[in-house]
Amino acid sequence: MISIQYDQNDPETISNPYPLYDQLRSHDPVHWSEANNFWLLTRYSDVASVIRDDRVSSDRFRAISSDLPAEAQEQFAPFINMVSAWMLMSDAPAHTRLRGLVNKAFTPRMIDNIRARIQELVDGMLDAVQDDGRFDLISALANPLPGIVIAEMLGVPAEDQPQFKKWSDDIAIGLTGNETTGSRAERYLIGQKSFLELSDYFKPVVERLRSQPEDNLLSAMVQAEESGDTLSQEELFANCVLLMFAGQETTTNLIGNGILALLNFPDQMEMLRNDPSLIVSATEELLRYDSPVQKLGRLAIEDIEVDGKKIAKGDEIVFCYAAANRDPEEFQFPNQLDLSRTNNRHMAFAHGTHYCLGAALARLEGQISINAVVQRMPNLRLESDDLEWNPSAILRGLKSLPVSF
Ligand code: HEM
Repeated sequence: MISIQYDQNDPETISNPYPLYDQLRSHDPVHWSEANNFWLLTRYSDVASVIRDDRVSSDRFRAISSDLPAEAQEQFAPFINMVSAWMLMSDAPAHTRLRGLVNKAFTPRMIDNIRARIQELVDGMLDAVQDDGRFDLISALANPLPGIVIAEMLGVPAEDQPQFKKWSDDIAIGLTGNETTGSRAERYLIGQKSFLELSDYFKPVVERLRSQPEDNLLSAMVQAEESGDTLSQEELFANCVLLMFAGQETTTNLIGNGILALLNFPDQMEMLRNDPSLIVSATEELLRYDSPVQKLGRLAIEDIEVDGKKIAKGDEIVFCYAAANRDPEEFQFPNQLDLSRTNNRHMAFAHGTHYCLGAALARLEGQISINAVVQRMPNLRLESDDLEWNPSAILRGLKSLPVSF
């Protein structure tokens, strides 16, 4: 038996995790990471079945934080409570209720209505660099776009958006950073400060919207009601923060990783350039090929056995969606980018009850941005071989992507 070690803090793994995923999937698909204290599942079929098992829970943040010293737990109680109020971190029946209420506000009509605005934003961002012949795709497009889109949907005025983006980035550090970003206590401190400031920002806005509704997502969340039930103030702030947090860096990384994959497979980029209608299947393939959310955790709330391995109650289980998305049992030639791939049942948006609530919006932003870059920037090429990745093994994305055309 080959001994393989997975460590999410290892810079080499962060810059290219796929060879290690392949080894784990083949030799140790239910892997205990000694370095990180969790089980890592890399097979498509295992992730698909265990994710639906009632013995694993999404309500994990309190438990994961319970090994902090008592003092720190007290200090970070506001952060832990708010994150625990997210639908992402809850199980039925709380999850069903929260998701139902937010879903009432986050409607397909609302997403469809923003299509023209996304196109306008993308066009403006590309106009600004079109004459230069070179630009950093991350800072010019992938990074700012999703923040502006969700801020506008929520009704945040333009002048507050930079602050809004900073809060969201800090919360991402608090939740998904690793040791290179700081100790856990330092990261929680950054996340908590921004979470509290953001709640203070929303408080008067929500008060106003209760008596004077507007045509935006935040107002719709305030009004959302199901059988006489509404979101409490705390749930409202927490899930508003979830929407902006969950929809920013993830979508940034779809656009950045997507364009990078196309640069690495020039024949596929050419195919898309010649047939823009391929963008729908292309975006699914780019999500599969280099998934923006590589993995996410759950908590075993009972003992459970997977592939002969005994996972004990209280252990953390991490579903590696990105490894499942390269599983040859599910995808033919998984390490090949094939924009015309059919029956692409990738797990980039997860699977089951927590399937990404914002998938339609993320797809729309990805499709419009990637198509615009490919169509408007002929002969697109990388300006540097030395690309730097963000220090997170969860949210996989580039710090910058210098290109010329
Ligand atoms: C390419 C971009 C995106 C990717 C790859 C992505 C991925 C995911 C994944 C993997 C999950 C499941 C989490 C789990 O396993 O527990 C999830 C959940 C979620 N996502 Fe996304 N997401 C993206 C964009 C968005 C956007 C734009 C929004 C909203 C503005 C959003 C809102 C949410 C919410 C609210 C949940 C929680 C759903 C639940 O717990 O029921 N996401 N997303």
